[in-house]
Amino acid sequence: MNKFWVGTNWKMTKTIAEGSFYTKELKKIAEKLSNIELFIIPSHTSLVSIKELTENSKIHIGAQNMHWESEGAYTGEISPTMLHEIGMNIVELGHSERRQYYNETDESINKKVIAALKYGMKPLVCIGENSTQKKNNISKETLAAQLIVCLKGLTAEQVKHVMIAYEPVWAIGEDGTPADAAYVEEIHGFLREKLKDLFDSKGNDIPILYGGSVNKENFLEYSKLQDVNGLFIGRAAWDIESFRVILHTLNSQVYR
Ligand code: 13P
Repeated sequence: MNKFWVGTNWKMTKTIAEGSFYTKELKKIAEKLSNIELFIIPSHTSLVSIKELTENSKIHIGAQNMHWESEGAYTGEISPTMLHEIGMNIVELGHSERRQYYNETDESINKKVIAALKYGMKPLVCIGENSTQKKNNISKETLAAQLIVCLKGLTAEQVKHVMIAYEPVWAIGEDGTPADAAYVEEIHGFLREKLKDLFDSKGNDIPILYGGSVNKENFLEYSKLQDVNGLFIGRAAWDIESFRVILHTLNSQVYR
C-alpha cells in the first residue's frame, strides 16, 4: 500500500473561529506534504466553513457521525444526503465514544457504512476492544466480530473504499494507556488476515489506521509497523504546532 493516512478527530473541541485558524495553518503545512493523505474530522458546525477553506487543497474532510437514512423524523441526527451536499469525503463511524455514550452497535454501524458508500463517502470504521475484553483474552474475537458485522453485505468492489481505524478503547483519551508497539503490530497483522478472509485479495487494499494516545513520543514507532497504514490522532493533533511536527517528520520518513 503506497498511501499513508494521517488524520485527526477533533471530537467535541474547537469553535468555528478556532477551527478556521487551525485549518489555515494546516493548509500551509499540507502544501509541503508529498507522502501523506491528510484528513481532519471536525464537529458538524465547522464542516461547511472548513470545507470552503480547504477547497483546492489536498486535505480531506470528514464528519464524526451520521444517520443511515437519507431523511426522516430523527431529531438531532444528520443524514448522508446532507453530508454529501456539503462535499464530505469521509465519515467516521463507530468511534468508541459513540459506542459507549450513544449506544452505537455494530449493526447500526453496518447500516451507516452502506449508506456512506451509497453517497460516495469513505467510511472510516472504528473498532477496538475494551480493557475487560483484553483482560479476558478475547481481543481478537471481539475485533473479528466487529469487522464481520460492521462490513456485512459489502462487495469486494465496495470494500476498497472503506478504511478501518483500530483504536483499543483502553488506549484512548486522557485516561488511556498507550499500547505497546509489538501489540499494535500483532493486532494489525490479525486484522489484515481477517480482512483477506472476508474479501480475498481486496482485503489487502483496505487501509488500517492506528489510534489511541498517539503522541509526539510514539507516532514514529507506530508508523513503521507492518500493516499500520496510517494514524488517527486525537489530543496530540489538536494543537497545530504539535501536529506540524508529527506531519513533517512522517512526511520525511514514510516511504511505502
Ligand atoms: P487520543 O489520541 O486523544 O487518545 O484520541 C484518539 C481517538 O479517539 C481518535 O479517534
